[in-house]
Parts: sequence; C-alpha cells; structure tokens
Amino acid sequence: MRRQRRAYHQTELGNREETARDRLLALEAAFDGWTRKALCRTRLQESWRALEIGAGAGSVAFWLADQLTEGEVVATDLDLTYLPDSHPRVRTMVHDLTVDSFSHAEFNLIHARAVYEHLADPEVAAARTLSWLAPGGWIVIEGVDFTFGVNSPHPAVASGLSGMIAGMAAATGLDSTFERTLPALFHQHGLVDVSLCVQPMVCGDGGAAEQFLRISLEQLKPMLVRAGTTEESIDGLLHWMDSPGNLDTVFAIVTVSARRPGADS
Ligand SMILES: C[S@@+](CC[C@H](N)C(=O)[O-])C[C@H]1O[C@@H](n2cnc3c(N)ncnc32)[C@H](O)[C@@H]1O
Repeated sequence: MRRQRRAYHQTELGNREETARDRLLALEAAFDGWTRKALCRTRLQESWRALEIGAGAGSVAFWLADQLTEGEVVATDLDLTYLPDSHPRVRTMVHDLTVDSFSHAEFNLIHARAVYEHLADPEVAAARTLSWLAPGGWIVIEGVDFTFGVNSPHPAVASGLSGMIAGMAAATGLDSTFERTLPALFHQHGLVDVSLCVQPMVCGDGGAAEQFLRISLEQLKPMLVRAGTTEESIDGLLHWMDSPGNLDTVFAIVTVSARRPGADS
C-alpha cells in the first residue's frame, strides 16, 4: 500500500466529514465508562489542574471538571468545532501537542484517548508531554488497539479489520498498537506505579462500540479504498455485523497510567 501521511483534519478522520460528530459521540459512548474508572484510580483530588489532550467532543473534560470542583481542566484540540466552551472549570484551547507547549510541570493530571496513535512521532510527543506533568502527578494515555479484530477467527472480521488498519496506516500513518509501548517509555522517564489495563469491546450486538466501528468504516471508506483496502472487505465486515448471532471482540481500549514521583507521593 502507498504510504502517505496527511495532517489529521486533512484526512477523512477530520471534523469536516458529515458524520464526524456522530463518530466522536459514539467513541465517547463506547469508552467513557472505562476511562472514568481509569481516571478514578488516580484518586482524583478536587484542587487538581488537569490537561485533556485531543479532547474531541469533550465528554472526558467535562466529567473531569465535575470531579475537580476546586481545580481546572484545560481541554485542547487541533480543532474545537465539537468542543463546547460551556463549563466554568473547562478552558478550551486550540493546541497541537506536537508543536505547542505548556509550562514545565503545569498539570497534576494529563489524559489523552485515541490521540497518540495518530501522530507522526508519538514517542517524541509522549516524552514532551511528560515535561508538563507536576511532581506527584498522573499521566493516563489510552489507545484503541484493533489486534483482536485482525486475529479474529471470522474471515469477514479479520479481513475487514486488517484492511481498515492497513489502509489507515498507509493513508494517515496510524500505529494502533503504539500505546502498548508506553509502559517502557514511562519507566525510562522515571515514572512509577506504571500500569497497563485492557478492556476488549464487542461488536455485532448493536452497542456503542459497534456504532463507533460502523461510522468509522463508512466515514473512512473513500480514504481506505484510495489507500488500497478493498471495498469488499469493508462491506463484508459491515454485513457480518448485521447477521444475528455474529458477535466478536474486534478492538480493545488500552490504558497506560503512571505517576511522577514527588510532592504528593
Ligand atoms: C479519535 S479522536 C478522540 C477524541 C477524544 N480524545 C475522545 O476519545 O473522545 C482524536 C482527537 O485527537 C485530536 N488530535 C489529533 N492530532 C492532534 C494533535 N497533534 N494535537 C492535539 N489534538 C490532536 C483530533 O482533532 C481529535 O479530536
């Protein structure tokens, strides 16, 4: 497949697509329960200053701000089209995490979901993000890993997901297993309490994870086909999910957390 990297919002992943908002909302519906539990494991403190990177439609930022009743959440994204500026403790900001910066040790909590795997050099981006983390502060980075689908025993699932991942890698540079490399990176940077947790998601049941996959396949189809994925493999997966009794684990959310030793330890 032809490899060509374009900036996130210049691809069919971006907010100019007709279904972009629905895709972000389906992603939130699928993953927010798991993400909230992961954030609660950091033992959130009301006065914390938090950074939500690549906040999308903002559900995590707004939920966090409800928890941090004496703190503040800075919610960033390349594009704020679907990020409402409506919470007294959420400050929204256009910010490219690969280019723009924050002050050293500015945040007690940094969270990002489904962002780093889309970056050209996610390891460098993750390392510079760590410089914004205060002593005693937590970083929680999550990604969507499609390995389950690629290795499915169902040919339609394996073919559809393999085509989707290869097409996205070719068209946008997606590295959908990047987050699984973060524990070693965090350890190298002196962080402690490093953990990796995984929640597989099921498709075929009509639930939120399936909605996210369906909207993604439809929205990204022109880009995937241009990159060499066959239309048959995409349609085959969509049809497979339509048939009663067809259920499978097709992707998982991978959550990597760690703490910088220091002040609040
Ligand atoms: C798949 S969406 C996930 C949205 C949100 N994190 C969630 O899980 O609900 C990826 C988001 O990352 C943002 N993004 C991509 N590259 C970025 C960058 N370099 N800096 C900041 N945000 C970025 C996109 O604009 C998009 O909103």
